[in-house]
Amino acid sequence: MIPLLEISDLVKAFRGVRAVDGASFAVQAGSITGLIGPNGSGKSTAIDCISGFQRADAGRVHLDGTAIDGLPPQRIARAGLTRTFQDVRVYDTYTVLENLLVVAKPFATTNWADAFLRTQKFRETHGQAEARALDLIDLVGLTRLTHAPALILSYGQKKLLAFAAAMMSNPSIVVLDEPVAGVNPTRVNEVAEIVRAANRGGTTFLIIEHNVDFITSLCDHVIVFDRGRKLTEGPPAEVHRDPLVLDAYLGVEPGHEPHLARAG
Ligand SMILES: Nc1ncnc2c1ncn2[C@@H]1O[C@H](COP(=O)(O)OP(=O)(O)OP(=O)(O)O)[C@@H](O)[C@H]1O
Ligand SMILES: [Mg+2]
Repeated sequence: MIPLLEISDLVKAFRGVRAVDGASFAVQAGSITGLIGPNGSGKSTAIDCISGFQRADAGRVHLDGTAIDGLPPQRIARAGLTRTFQDVRVYDTYTVLENLLVVAKPFATTNWADAFLRTQKFRETHGQAEARALDLIDLVGLTRLTHAPALILSYGQKKLLAFAAAMMSNPSIVVLDEPVAGVNPTRVNEVAEIVRAANRGGTTFLIIEHNVDFITSLCDHVIVFDRGRKLTEGPPAEVHRDPLVLDAYLGVEPGHEPHLARAG
């Protein structure tokens, strides 16, 4: 079976320091896969390279068997891989709805002439995009704020909006970089439910998160990063007990895990 996403020997250095140092891992189609590891272990940098926001120094990335490394982010999104950012990114001056419609634009099959002449095709495409956007806004609980500018949203609400934006193009795989950091505990469970629902609908997820409970309850498989490469992988309950993993995080005995954030 070909994995949906396959990363081989990925390298990315900043001024000679290897943030990603020969990472190889795979994400199976239909899975909710976790990507965990200590601060600075290269998780976000790896995702930046995979999604085209950074250019890797070396390595290959295949999406559904096709090489996507070296492509710009928009081409990779069109190929079916979208992502959110750890430092949440939304268009502050756009409304919640506009934030989703602007994402849909490059995916539309209409062109500027259709838009200018407001052809039937344009109206249909626009109508479909708006219907999907409204569904997603409802799904993440932001309906009340549909026409509000994104700048008035709280940090947690912006995370939810960014999540909806990543889902807008109906991607085959979504990479979430710390989706529940700064989101209140009640909402954390809701985010987990949204991910599960989307996963049942066929979307594969790769989720970076420090929240152990979130990862354990949601993921069927977890990849552990340390010093820019995969340290180990396996079912969440097992990797969290793995002495190698505890050592990578903490360098202390099991049972004394001060840095592992737990959901409240
Ligand atoms: N643009 C950059 N310029 C220089 N160094 C960078 C840059 N981006 C990341 N790094 C360095 O690369 C290393 C890996 O960082 P990265 O953000 O990928 O880690 P992470 O695993 O996502 O950590 P965290 O869990 O804290 O988000 C760090 O040492 C970081 O300082
Ligand atoms: Mg990070």
